[in-house]
Order: sequence, then structure tokens, then C-alpha cells
Amino acid sequence: METTSCASRPVNHPLDPLTPAEIETAVAIVRRERAPGDDVLFVSVALHEPAKDVVLAFREGGPIERRAFLVLRDRKMRATCEAVVSLTTGAIVSWREVPGVQPSITIDEFFACERLVRASPAWQTALRKRGVEDFELAMVDPWSAGYYGVADDPKRRLIRALTWIRAQPDDNGYARPIEGVVAIVDMDAMTVVEIEDHGVVPLPPHAGNYSPAALQDPKNVPHFPDGVRHDLRAVSITQPEGPSFEVRGWEVSWQKWSFRIGFTPREGLVLHTVAYDDRGRRRPILYRASLAEMVVPYGDPAPTHWRKNAFDEGEYGIGMLANALTLGCDCLGEIRYFDAVVADASGVPTVLRNAICMHEEDFGILWKHTNFRTGHVEVRRSRRLVVSSIATVGNYEYGFYWYFYQDGTLELQLKLTGIVSTGAIAPGERPTHGALVAPGLYAPNHQHWFNFRLDMMVDGVRNAVHEVDSAAVPLGAENPGGNAWVVNRRLLGRESEACRDADPLAGRYWLVTSAEARNGLGEPTAYKLVPGENVRALAHRDSSVARRAGFMAHHLWVTRHDPAERYAAGDYPNQHPGGAGLPAYVAADRPLENEDVVLWYSLGAHHVARPEDWPVMPVACVGFALKPAGFFDGNPALDVAPPAGHAHDHCARS
Ligand code: CO
Repeated sequence: METTSCASRPVNHPLDPLTPAEIETAVAIVRRERAPGDDVLFVSVALHEPAKDVVLAFREGGPIERRAFLVLRDRKMRATCEAVVSLTTGAIVSWREVPGVQPSITIDEFFACERLVRASPAWQTALRKRGVEDFELAMVDPWSAGYYGVADDPKRRLIRALTWIRAQPDDNGYARPIEGVVAIVDMDAMTVVEIEDHGVVPLPPHAGNYSPAALQDPKNVPHFPDGVRHDLRAVSITQPEGPSFEVRGWEVSWQKWSFRIGFTPREGLVLHTVAYDDRGRRRPILYRASLAEMVVPYGDPAPTHWRKNAFDEGEYGIGMLANALTLGCDCLGEIRYFDAVVADASGVPTVLRNAICMHEEDFGILWKHTNFRTGHVEVRRSRRLVVSSIATVGNYEYGFYWYFYQDGTLELQLKLTGIVSTGAIAPGERPTHGALVAPGLYAPNHQHWFNFRLDMMVDGVRNAVHEVDSAAVPLGAENPGGNAWVVNRRLLGRESEACRDADPLAGRYWLVTSAEARNGLGEPTAYKLVPGENVRALAHRDSSVARRAGFMAHHLWVTRHDPAERYAAGDYPNQHPGGAGLPAYVAADRPLENEDVVLWYSLGAHHVARPEDWPVMPVACVGFALKPAGFFDGNPALDVAPPAGHAHDHCARS
């Protein structure tokens, strides 16, 4: 195992994330020039990425101008400011107050909110009504407020906090929701504005713990009288010659892939400048790939739940919440870790140890054929490279896994795990808008929506996007036997034509073609975006959450590249009344053919909870793939060597 300590690494590329020293410098410049008081939160400090042409023209050793982008919240003035500072010149490049917006909630505020609510007499009264006296055992989760009318105006920094109660400090509090109590907190003024109490529902009777020590407790749901299993024998993954990748700073090369790893406090793991070496030619595929927003709309009209819909990226920061990954637990084998650096709310750099994990996996067979006449077998094993990061957002865990394959496929897999958000229900009742997971305890129906921004660069910056469907040919002269079907391709020529939905029954995918390069068959070289499991958004289009998460309305959006358009629900979704992000971006209806295009893929993970999801849910996977489709002349993995350590025909005889 090796950890790349970012603290000591020199900057050698314009896309390298900020170092701790650079964050200190950025904050020091702002402090010197603007003298922010103690009421000012440093909501985020991140690299201000240089323009695409600057990055693409950069050559190793060339000059680099480093800039940082800061978002600040002045709680006393109730103002949000954006600053760009040059770390190279030590000056503020731009400073602006952004009117009427709320930046994301900082981790420091999570705990401040909990302390405030616990001290509220009205909240304490509500808990006493439910038989709770020890308020220190309450968990108060800072659910973002959303926007449900003028009282939620983003002038005020609001949280709608929900409460759960533990039996002891290390208890899983989500087993005992305080149903009906919503605390509205003003985080600028640091006051509890209101405690809503919608009526008492008894606390669920059982514990929901999941550590080995808890399994045999008959009060736990579920419980295992025999405790943990003891019949699993060791497996060890060794790579005696070391891993097959090379790392230089944030740059990775593996097999024929090369790319840069990035990390921002808001997006978490980012991929930059993904390219493939095709017989000596470095061919670009993607300029930048990132999570552009996510939201979890709950489908329960009950007073405690109907406003639950966290935009976990824009309202909290997926990077800020990254886990420190551990060898043998999160990742197995020859691991390379990358640390990430973020700033806390007072601007102090914080190193997130092992925030990104990279390793190789054996992935079954890559390709095979047996010549049944001669018995000759050719088979290759598939090795894939995994770059991953896991974020804990309150009760949930989200794992983001990018897989690089030897056949030119790039896949994103999301792993959803953690604890479902719960509600309490009276004994004997069954929830209409959720599922019982334990006696008196239910998980409301919900969806997890993600949007990935894929700034494509298929053999050059200029690309075009086509929708490709398969369709049966009508019976007739063209199809006398009724068996015929064709593949229809349609150019998505403008932004207004490129708001599209998945159609698995038509085998639909979206093809991104190069404006310049041709393959051996004379066709434009191309990659295709292949949807995985997906679903329709069930929130009504006029609902608050659907207006705010406009990206849920379609699975595919395509925009002409604009570096200012990076987030699918806009720059400041927290308490935003709606309409920002993709719906606003595509309103320009820019032409897309052979332009610098960005694909935005929206992905809904539908979650009807099962008892098996309790108390901590087994990983559920959703994702999509980018696959070469006429990018190469033939199978690009033909040159993968036969399995090592075996005579060439060994596999044939065994
Ligand atoms: Co879920």
C-alpha cells in the first residue's frame, strides 16, 4: 500500500488540486484584503480550474498560474460572496456578492445545529412528550431546508433538522425516529426559529444495531443467536510484481489508459483528460467527468418527511464528506491511496486521508473462443482499474467507482449503502408511502437521483451527439419475413432537441462522434453512452423538488461547453426556488453539431425499501458506461497477453 501525501507534493500540472499550503495562502490573501470577521464561514476553497485551451496547451514544465475559488458566507451581513484569488500573484482577481443565494452547509454547522436544537426549550418539551429526558442522546440531523415559500427565502440560512434518539452513545439512532418533530434553525443568527410538533407517534421498540457485539441481543432487529459467521476462509490478493499502473503526482497511466485524478470539496472525485493510447497515438476521450449534482426526493406526504430531499452535492459537498478508506476493508489488494485536502469553515486546510482508492481487479474473462474443430482455445482474463471514493451523508453512504477496462470501456458504478432514513409508525399500522423495516419503524419510498457531467472529447474537442434506437421494420416488401429490424440514428442538433429519456426497450444509447477523426471504415470515430438501470422521477413536475432538481426531468441533456455551467441544479441549490441548472442552461438552445459538447446523464436509483435493507443496507448498484463504438478498428483488447504462468495452450487442455 502506498499513500500519496498531497501535503508534500509539488504542483506540476494546472489541474492538480490545491495543496494545504495553497489553501492557507488563498485564505490569507482574503483575510489580508477583505478582513472578514469571525462571522464569516469559508464554505469552500477549491482550485479555480484554468480554461480548457490553457490546460490542453500545457506542456510539462511550462508556467502554471494557480488560482483558488472561494465561497464565503457572512452570517452577520447575511451575504454570500465568491472570490477568485491568484496564488501566483497574491492578489484577489475577482470578488462578488451573489445576491439571494445560500451556499452549502458546512460540517462545522452540522454540530452547531445539533447543539442549538438540543438546547431549545420547545424541542425539549416535544421530546419529553415522547418520554425522552436525556437530550444528549438525541441525534439532530441538519436536513437542508429546501424551498416551500417566501419564508424559506435564501436571505436567511435555514435548516429543517430532524431528530432521532439513541439508547446509548454508540447506538444506531435511526432505529428510533422522533416522528412529527421538525426544528427550523436559522444558521446565520444561530437561533431555533420554530419547533413544529405534528403529534406523538410511539418510539419503535427495537434496537437496530449492526456491530458484531449487537447481533446476539434479542432486542435487536434482526438478531443472530449464533453471532458472526466463522466458516469463511481467508482470501488474499497479491501482486508479487506490484500493480500495473504508474502514478506521477495526480496523473495515472494503466494499460493504454491515461488520465488525471482530481478532487473538489463539492464534487469529490473528478476525472480529467481521459485518453487511450492506440498503437502509439494518444487519443482523447473525455476532458472532465464529475458528479454534477444529486438529490434524494422522498415520496411520503407525512409532515416529517414531505420536505426531505437533500441535494447532497450542492447542499453539503460530496468531497467534504469523503471517508478515509482502509486497506483490507474498503479496498483489497495492491492499493494506491490519494489524500484530498479541503478547508474547514474557518479556512484551515484539512487533509482527508485516503479519500481516493485505486487498485486493479481481476474481472473474469475478457474474451474467449474455442475452435471446436481443432480444440484450440484463446482466452484472456479481464483486468480492470478501479478509482473510487465513498462519502457519508448523514445516514447514507455513496460509493463512486470509476472502472477502466482493457477494451476501452469506462464505467461508472454507484454503490448505495448505509442506513435508510426512517420514520416511526403507530403499532399495528402499515405505511402507505413506505415500507415497514422493523416493528413500528418504516422507510419512506424515495429515489436517489444523480447527474454526471461528461465533458466529452472524442478524438478532439468538437463532437456531435446522436440518439440511436433499434426498430422493427414494418411487414411488407422490405420485410417479408417479419424478422427485419434496423438501427436508426438521429442527430441531436440543438440543446432543445437533446433533452432525452432512456428507452431500454428500444436498446437506446447515445453516440458521441468526432468532428474530425475517421475510423478504418470511413465513419466518424465515436464513443457511446450506455444507460444502465434507470427510472422516471415520481415527484410531480410542479413540486418544489422537481423545480429545484430540474435535471430529473430527463436522463440525457446535452449542452455546448461553458465552464460556468458545472452543476446540474445550478451553483446554489440550497433554498433555491427552482429553475436553475440544466433547464436554464439549455434555454439558450445552442447548436450542438460538431461543437464542444457536454453530456449530462441523470440517473435515478429507485428505492422501495425492504426489510433486508435494515439496519444497514447491502450495497445496491446503479451506473452507466461509456463504450467505444467505432472508435477503434476492431477489438482493442486483442493484444492482451494470454494468462501469465501458463503455456499458451494450457487453457485448451485443462
Ligand atoms: Co435509498
